[in-house]
Amino acid sequence: MERIVYLNGAYIPETEAKISIFDRGFLFADAVYEVTAVLDGQLIDNEGHLARLEHSAKELGIKLPMTSEALTAIQESLIEKNNLAEGSIYVQLSRGAESDRDFDYSEEIEPTLVLFTQTRKIVNTPKKKTGIKVISYEDIRWRRRDIKTSGLLPACLAKHAAHAAGADDVWLIEDGFVTEGGSSNAYIITQEGKLVTRPLSQDILSGITRDSLMKLSRDTGIEIEERPFSIEEAYAAKEAFISSATTFVWPVVEIDGKPIADGKPGRFTLKLRDIYINTAQKNL
Ligand code: PDD
Repeated sequence: MERIVYLNGAYIPETEAKISIFDRGFLFADAVYEVTAVLDGQLIDNEGHLARLEHSAKELGIKLPMTSEALTAIQESLIEKNNLAEGSIYVQLSRGAESDRDFDYSEEIEPTLVLFTQTRKIVNTPKKKTGIKVISYEDIRWRRRDIKTSGLLPACLAKHAAHAAGADDVWLIEDGFVTEGGSSNAYIITQEGKLVTRPLSQDILSGITRDSLMKLSRDTGIEIEERPFSIEEAYAAKEAFISSATTFVWPVVEIDGKPIADGKPGRFTLKLRDIYINTAQKNL
């Protein structure tokens, strides 16, 4: 069945949604976006996602056409119109379109706002049992990775290379250290049982799932070290995992063909995944 999408004030079938060929999102990747998970028809951690959308738009001087409350009402309405029980909802906001192509833009430009849903199994996905295999891959992205822009070509190329190599995803490497996953934050549990993940900075996206996981991990009593870790340290880890709104928590069982510990999803990883899902469902 055709999805109903939202475009600049209208709810329309996806095939009827049209935007200008001069939209700056298309011409210059001059756009930001957010992805929020939907469980049992409800938005998960959505306040955090909309706050980050505000950050991304503000940093680039893109106008947010409405308040977070108004955006939430559109998200909820699309969930209902598409009968979405489990999956994701995307908010795509470009700086807008002018009458011709020009690098510079006028201050009066009006943004383009698109929302659409995607059905996806997040809770009962086979990946939680099997875990994923990743390859290390050079991080060639720009220097403002704290901004969630739709300039995702480096991630697309990296994921394509991972699939071609028989892996599921990448861990991106800069100066010998892991920055993050292809579209996720990256973590290891050391042999001493410490949770290590890169600290927040402009080098990585401030994951909304990461934020929740850090609080939940703290409650378990595990020692947390927010510091960069190398790919060699990851090879020798007791456990490894990623987090994002589309995966929640997925175990990483192999990096560059080397199994992590016994090559099976780690115990803490699976426990943290369960805690995250239980907490999210309790808050619905
Ligand atoms: N990606 N780092 C990067 C580069 C990401 O693209 C994402 C999310 C994350 C995790 O952020 P969060 O927990 O807020 O989803 C970290 C989304 C899912 C995507 O682009 O599809």
